Amino acid sequence: MRIEFDPEAVGRTPFYKLLTSVVVPRPIAWVSTVSAAGTCNLAPHSFFTVACVAPPIVQFTSVGRKDSLHNVEETGEFVVNFAPEQLFEQINETATDFPPEVGEFEAVGIAREPSLRVKPPRVAASSVALECELHSTVRLGDSTVVFGRVVHAAVDEHVMDDGHPEVTRLRPLARLGKDEWATLGEVLERPRIRYADWDGGAGGDGFGGQGGS
Ligand SMILES: Cc1cc2nc3c(=O)[nH]c(=O)nc-3n(C[C@H](O)[C@H](O)[C@H](O)COP(=O)(O)O)c2cc1C
Repeated sequence: MRIEFDPEAVGRTPFYKLLTSVVVPRPIAWVSTVSAAGTCNLAPHSFFTVACVAPPIVQFTSVGRKDSLHNVEETGEFVVNFAPEQLFEQINETATDFPPEVGEFEAVGIAREPSLRVKPPRVAASSVALECELHSTVRLGDSTVVFGRVVHAAVDEHVMDDGHPEVTRLRPLARLGKDEWATLGEVLERPRIRYADWDGGAGGDGFGGQGGS
């Protein structure tokens, strides 16, 4: 038996909590921006994904009007810094609701480095920086989706393996529901099956336990 939930009946916050508990795990964009006055901002956003391949576009969502959104609208640029396990505490600390004039880099004590193509700085200790120019924003109810064209990517050579970023070296953090976070679990690898090669699949319970190997 399932328990059925009507978003209208449940209400905004409880349904938001339900959604963020079931859309899991979510990658975390650690977004750096700069205000017109020059204050550098840094905040985690887990409503984050790739939006387009060519041109390369990523997206994050500001629930409400956060400083990150304000700065992006003002100056048109942001950097998505990779959120690795070893920076867990710092990432969480940058989610503190500091006032707009307080820069999280200084408040939390995070070293920065200049970006190559955009004004917002990179997090020096983060292994990947995706430098973005604002493509567009879409207002949806109480939230705003920010699309950014990736104009440059910088990847630490230590996470590279055979010319490619290696996930066990990246050690991503992910966001779950409530106050929960996750680290990378077991990595599974399976090539995608072309229809021409389809032989009926593993079948069974959907967990590969029946007829699979
Ligand atoms: C792991 C994590 C993920 C978060 N994801 C989002 C998100 O996707 N969108 C959002 O608006 N806030 C998100 N938050 C909350 C913001 O980081 C927090 O409100 C922060 O203070 C915003 O900073 P800003 O006002 O400097 O932009 C998240 C917080 C944490 C800890």
